[in-house]
Amino acid sequence: MQVHVILPAAGIGTRMAAGTHNVSAPKQFLALGGIPILIHSLRAFAAVPSVTTILVAVRANERERVQAQIDEYELSDRVKVVEGGDSRQQSVTNALHSLKAEADDVVLVHDAVRPLIDTASIERTIEAIARHGAAIVGLPAVDTIKQVDRTVDGAIIATTVPRERIVMAQTPQGAKFSLMKQAFDEAERDDFVGTDEASLLERAGIEVSVVAGSPRNLKITQPADLALAEFYLSQTA
Ligand code: C5P
Repeated sequence: MQVHVILPAAGIGTRMAAGTHNVSAPKQFLALGGIPILIHSLRAFAAVPSVTTILVAVRANERERVQAQIDEYELSDRVKVVEGGDSRQQSVTNALHSLKAEADDVVLVHDAVRPLIDTASIERTIEAIARHGAAIVGLPAVDTIKQVDRTVDGAIIATTVPRERIVMAQTPQGAKFSLMKQAFDEAERDDFVGTDEASLLERAGIEVSVVAGSPRNLKITQPADLALAEFYLSQTA
């Protein structure tokens, strides 16, 4: 059983650019502790011995820049660059098409913009996939969760959702290659677009287990997230 990793990194980061900082680069290329966010993410997976291939999906005009960074940080033995698409799901689909894998191999997908993923969480996810077929990293909800109706006057609470039944989905998310391919093929056939891999697996009737995540594994979406990530990083330096 081999472990393959896909890092979708073809986003253009509009929410980051819309923030108060004057940010021109997509968020996965911004520096965190002096190192590009994407490189942090790649290093985290390259540090896991069972990982054999890492495919990073980027925009066509960024292939050269990313390849140069991969070479500079000496990650080229296991990391390959592929072309991303117009949505996160399309970027992952493109990478899946260029992946040579056996049915039983594990495929993990990780947002390139979650640079502080730790080895233990990655290994827990791989073990859960090997045991159950599909798994994601999730974080229990600490706030009380409300379901709302959106009205012209703003959000109105419809109901309170039992918090113990809620987890917030992080990445990595993954499955055995055959299950992942089935879920993506069915989504493509039905024109279904989801925001994560689990939503595709769920609709294909595949059971997805959840392993414990960490608040440190934050997704860098807005400038304030970068400041928080810098803080977390300084705590481990
Ligand atoms: O924009 P979002 O928060 O969904 O981005 C999550 C991840 O998906 C990021 O790493 C981003 O680079 C990636 N992505 C992609 N292709 C797109 C859009 C987003 O690979 N077209």
